[in-house]
Amino acid sequence: MMNNTARFTAQRALARPDPARDAFARDLTAALATRPRSISPKYFYDVQGSALFDRICDLPEYYPTRTEMAILRGQAGDIAAQMGPRAEIVEFGAGSCTKVRLLLDAMDAPARYLPIDISGEHLSVAAAGLRRDYPGLDVQPVVADYTQRLLLAARPPGAGQRVGFFPGSTIGNFTPAEAFYFLQVAAQVLRGGALLLGADLVKDPAVLHAAYNDAQGVTAAFNLNLLARANRELAAGFRLEQFTHHAFYNAPLQRIEMHLVSRCRQRVEVAGQLFEFAEGETLHTENSHKFTIDGLRLLAQQAGFRPGPVWTDAQHHFSVHWLHAPQ
Ligand code: AVI
Repeated sequence: MMNNTARFTAQRALARPDPARDAFARDLTAALATRPRSISPKYFYDVQGSALFDRICDLPEYYPTRTEMAILRGQAGDIAAQMGPRAEIVEFGAGSCTKVRLLLDAMDAPARYLPIDISGEHLSVAAAGLRRDYPGLDVQPVVADYTQRLLLAARPPGAGQRVGFFPGSTIGNFTPAEAFYFLQVAAQVLRGGALLLGADLVKDPAVLHAAYNDAQGVTAAFNLNLLARANRELAAGFRLEQFTHHAFYNAPLQRIEMHLVSRCRQRVEVAGQLFEFAEGETLHTENSHKFTIDGLRLLAQQAGFRPGPVWTDAQHHFSVHWLHAPQ
């Protein structure tokens, strides 16, 4: 619960214009006014949420990050061969630019790296680290929302193909319509090149359940941080101890769903509006879709790609796809 000083500070901050915070206020109040209540998972990622997500990636139960890294490391030679000499990499949602290093280490004279991310500050720190570790690599950060239409500079003279990189199965956090739209936009941006895409696979629900209900409670803290963020930024009055993290596998829809469940009947103020919660009522905070290899290839094909090689781990937990973009 917020103390009075914290609430006063947040209320004063609310008086200043801030487009990102205003969008959060608009989307959260709209979500709370609708039934069933549901909000985009993009609001998880403030500074605290991003730090919690980094901790999730290191959890013993959360297999996607280390499995994808192992695939990229083990198959780097084959992937680099698909890329060819002097390729340019465009990374969608680059964050800390960690996974791309596995590609850069194996590539034949990469021409340029364009990391795209909404968070400019994060991106310039990551870009500086890459320039230090890969002297001679042309790193050009692009601060943009990659889920919208993108205009990128033309490839530098003498460059090979343009290769998009979208790891982490972030595509699984989109709705099916958003995933299709993203692939269509990527196909245009990557025209004549390819997309290297990481996608989590359908598997034993027990493995999935453990990955989103870790023993240390980091995923629960990540989920609840959405409410903590609303308290910090919107002077909201969520009492975090009155909500619980609920994550389960919805088999017919092939997705993990995350919800925040109200433990009791309560009323919460958000951005000056009051919202009622019945006991057990939920705010749906995330879907994490899981794919079959054929399903993902079909989706990519429908968006204009020609599916190429696919690499997986021995347990078939995760997949990395090479998708040829249209000419
Ligand atoms: C970023 N994204 C691919 C993660 C996932 O697995 O869907 C976010 C996450 N949510 C809970 N744990 C991790």
